[in-house]
Amino acid sequence: MTYEHILFTVKDHVATITFNRPKALNALNRALLAEFANAIDQVEDREDIHALVLTGSGDKAFVAGADITEINQLDPLGAKHFARQGLDAINRLPQLPIPVIAAVNGYALGGGSEMALACDFIYAAETANFGLPEINLGIIPGFGGTQRLARLIGANMAREMIYTGKMIDATEALRLGMVNKVFAPEQLMAGVMETAAVMAQKGRVALRAAKQAINNGLNVDLASGLALENDAFALCLASTDAREGTSAFLEKRKPDFKGTLSSS
Ligand code: CAA
Repeated sequence: MTYEHILFTVKDHVATITFNRPKALNALNRALLAEFANAIDQVEDREDIHALVLTGSGDKAFVAGADITEINQLDPLGAKHFARQGLDAINRLPQLPIPVIAAVNGYALGGGSEMALACDFIYAAETANFGLPEINLGIIPGFGGTQRLARLIGANMAREMIYTGKMIDATEALRLGMVNKVFAPEQLMAGVMETAAVMAQKGRVALRAAKQAINNGLNVDLASGLALENDAFALCLASTDAREGTSAFLEKRKPDFKGTLSSS
C-alpha cells in the first residue's frame, strides 16, 4: 500500500508514523485510518522494529480529531462503522508487542487525544493542547475517549473535560498525569527518540511481557493482575534474553538481547 496521508519511516529499530494531512490539521479520515492500520500491520510483522513513535506533520497539530467533514455526512449506522474503524485501528496500539510513544507536537483533540491516550505514554511540546471537544459538535468521543481518559486521569476530571469540551495545555496535562514529559517544541522529537532508543535496546520478550501485564492487569482486580504478572514473569525465564541479561550482570558486561524464546 502506498501512503498518501501518513509517513512511515524506520530508523535504528524505531518506527515513526507521522499523520500527514497538515492542511486539515492531520484530521483522521477513513483513508488515513486505513493507511494507519496497514502501517500497524507492518510494525507488528517486523521483528527489527523495537519501538513505535506517533506524531503529526507541521508545527500546529498532532491530530485535530476525526474528520468533521466525514462525520457531518454520517447516519447512525455509518457513525457506528466510522467509530468502529477508528477504534479498531487505535486499539491495535496497546496490543502491539513493543512500546508506543505519542509525540504530541500541537493540537491533540477528539480522535487525536484518543489516539495519544492509547499509546504507552505521551511526551508533549510546550505548545501542545489536549481536549475532547466533541460536545461542541453535538456528539461525544467515539474513538475510546470516554473510557481511556477517565481511567487515566480519573472520572471527575474526565467528566469536566468531556462535558465542557475545554482544552488543556501541556503543563496542565502533565499535572494531571496525562503527559509524562514536556519539551520545548524543537526538542520534542530528540527527547522522544532518546527514550525510544533506550527501550529499543531492551529484550523484546521482557518488554512485551511488561506491556501485556500492565495493560491486561489494568482491566482486572489486583489479585487477577498479580496472577497475570506471575505468568508473564515466568514466560520471561523461557527467553534467551533472561539468561543473557542475568549472565551479563554476573559477568559484569553489557547484555546482547536477541528477543527469542530459548530452544532448550
Ligand atoms: N476535521 C476536519 N477538518 C479539520 C479538523 C477536523 N477535526 N480540524 C481542523 N480542520 C481543518 C479546518 O476546517 C481548516 O480547514 P480549511 O483551511 O479548509 O478551512 C484547517 O483544518 C485549519 O483549521 P482552522 O482554520 O480551524 O485552524 P485554527 O488555528 O483557527 O483552529 C483548531 C485550530 C482549534 C484545532 C480548530 O481547527 C478546531 O477546533 N478543530 C476541530 C477540533 C475538533 O472538534 N475535534 C474533534 C473532532 S470529532 C472527533 O474526533 C470524534 C471522535 O472522537 C471520533
